[in-house]
Amino acid sequence: MTDILQELELRRAIAHKGGGDDRIAAQHSKGKLTARERIDLLLDEGSFEEFDTFVAHRCTDFGMEKQRPYGDGVVTGWGTVNGRQVYVFSQDFTVLGGSVSATHAAKICKIMDMAIQNGAPVIGLNDSGGARIQEGVDALAGYAEIFQRNIMASGVIPQISVVMGPCAGGAVYSPAITDFIFMVKDSSYMFVTGPDVVKTVTNEVVTAEELGGASTHTKKSSVADGAFENDVEALAEVRRLIDFLPLNNVAKPPVRPFFDDVGRLDHSLDTLIPDSSNAPYDMKELILKLSDEGDFYEIQEEFAKNIITGFVRLEGSTVGVVANQPMVLAGCLDIDSSRKAARFVRFCDAFEIPILTLVDVPGFLPGTGQELGGVIKHGAKLLFAYGEATVPKVTVITRKAYGGAYDVMASKHLRGDFNYAWPTAEIAVMGAKGATEIIHRADLGNAEKIATHTQDYETRFANPFVAAERGFIDEVIMPHSTRKRVCRAFASLRGKRLTNPWKKHDNIPL
Ligand code: HXC
Repeated sequence: MTDILQELELRRAIAHKGGGDDRIAAQHSKGKLTARERIDLLLDEGSFEEFDTFVAHRCTDFGMEKQRPYGDGVVTGWGTVNGRQVYVFSQDFTVLGGSVSATHAAKICKIMDMAIQNGAPVIGLNDSGGARIQEGVDALAGYAEIFQRNIMASGVIPQISVVMGPCAGGAVYSPAITDFIFMVKDSSYMFVTGPDVVKTVTNEVVTAEELGGASTHTKKSSVADGAFENDVEALAEVRRLIDFLPLNNVAKPPVRPFFDDVGRLDHSLDTLIPDSSNAPYDMKELILKLSDEGDFYEIQEEFAKNIITGFVRLEGSTVGVVANQPMVLAGCLDIDSSRKAARFVRFCDAFEIPILTLVDVPGFLPGTGQELGGVIKHGAKLLFAYGEATVPKVTVITRKAYGGAYDVMASKHLRGDFNYAWPTAEIAVMGAKGATEIIHRADLGNAEKIATHTQDYETRFANPFVAAERGFIDEVIMPHSTRKRVCRAFASLRGKRLTNPWKKHDNIPL
């Protein structure tokens, strides 16, 4: 009996060694942790329960029958993050380069099936050379099995991908389907075809970092939602994100203890809006001053900075924030910001996370670049996302809300529950100067008359009261009372019930 027990421990020790000391040292020398070290950092201490430790592949081509390491290049199982259940897979680059075989894929599929069934998020730590070349089509089939589960899990449980090494070829499409992708700077990359293929086909010379590194995907392509300095920081930030999210689409977002006053007034907000209507100010200041303990988890911080997206807590409950940023492109909506915010709004709605929208938007960005790039369809994504969302929606217009962008940004007409405006709000079809130049075209040569008309338009329309008279704005509120008003609004909406008409699925303009 003792022998058998010892043998189990021996086999387990072999499995835990992965690809062996040399490959572990090579992994460390690249600044990367091993698959198991990553799991240890991600999960609460001692909470990891492993599945399929002894699974080995069944490939007999290319001499593979002589090389059948335990675990087959991926560590899978479940554990907890601050006491809440999550499923995890962590690819082990020290074993056959973390390459995906049929059995490797089956291990991932097993925990995904359990996660969907039991209603807990899946976190994938990706570090892999892609499809196991020796297995051919079996490996491709394995990938497709994972993709299918990613799709079925979408909107049911949160799925988070952390790219911590290579992720190339079709392998990128599993992370691409998940809700959030995070990368590690300088040690991870994602691309459909690598630099060598690019050179052969297009004659472009590009490095892996330029083509698919963390900077590229967080700043230019928007494939990734965030980039971190190293493995340790990335895993700590994923833990922080998990704390904001519900476990599944029928669970409520977590409510955590908070140490902030719900009725806290902030008089500095009364002077946040500059005297000049065209002067910028930092909308993040408002977000931080509104939220419990000033804690804000920003998503896609480096991309389309003219809109801000992320999570805060109000009275301990998670709220998704979408806010125009007057510091960048004057806060205009454009293709990138519409896409970024639409995807965020849809995530929040899928997981019953209420949405707070802070509005200072002069309109959609004009120009051929935008029109030829399809701003009509991309802008419609955000409009669609807000209009279909049934979660509690609270909107605060701080300054400009012009034209179509007024409608789009969670207006009353898109089923906004509470639509507040600061006294500094300007809600109109367009800015006073542009409006005057169109309405009073005949006076264009007379600067004095134009100035009078502009002043007249500003007085009549550049305020929140015309909209408030019609009930499009529920109340004009003092800036310093915003946190209190917004917290009370969301509290009153905790029992909100709203459903859309039955449909197989919608046809959002993709
Ligand atoms: C089998 C692989 C492998 C793979 C790496 N290895 N990738 N084994 N299948 N796909 C093995 C290597 O042979 C090596 O084994 C060990 O892993 C470590 O790899 P190195 O090359 O030494 O590491 P490094 O120098 O860091 O380079 C990493 C790498 C490179 C850039 C990822 O290994 C690489 O280019 N691999 C092939 C990538 C690829 O073409 N994959 C297929 C993509 S197509 P030993 O025993 O020597 O240590 C694809 C389609 C998916 O994935 C489609 C889904 C729809």
